[in-house]
Amino acid sequence: MEKTFLMVKPDGVQRNLIGEIVSRFEKKGYQLVGAKLMNVSRELAEKHYAEHKERPFFGELVDFITSGPVFAMVWQGNNVIATARAMMGKTNPLDAAAGTIRGDFATSVGMNIIHGSDSPESAEREIGLWFSADEVLSYEKTIQRWI
Ligand code: TYD
Ligand code: MG
Repeated sequence: MEKTFLMVKPDGVQRNLIGEIVSRFEKKGYQLVGAKLMNVSRELAEKHYAEHKERPFFGELVDFITSGPVFAMVWQGNNVIATARAMMGKTNPLDAAAGTIRGDFATSVGMNIIHGSDSPESAEREIGLWFSADEVLSYEKTIQRWI
């Protein structure tokens, strides 16, 4: 089953949006298989955003991600990588459609609430970077037999 890495960024945690965001993915039908509230080291932030290290915003991005706790998650389900990106909305919240997480809750590209893996390769890399194997669970949702 496909898995993706999603993270409520420090602005989302500060604004009490963890529950709202988790709820959207739960209601969509995806399964939470790993989660932790954590502070991010500069080393982890730089590895996570390594593809952007030559960009002018890299320093600010790392400062922001390390500025307070994030809520790191692994979600599982059908086409979850691309569908989660669609549910997040465009990177710049001003371009993100209403009804998406960024479209509904953010106004600046620097503080855009949520991260989500953008491909199967980045999902695998990011899950491995943020979670140890024993922190990603496999469990049956028995309630789905009844609904
Ligand atoms: P990117 O991977 O392009 O976007 P996404 O988060 O949608 O995958 O960029 C990573 C983060 O870098 C983005 O969420 C916010 C920040 N960023 C800026 O601060 N300024 C920018 O011009 C861009 C493109 C990104
Ligand atoms: Mg990205």
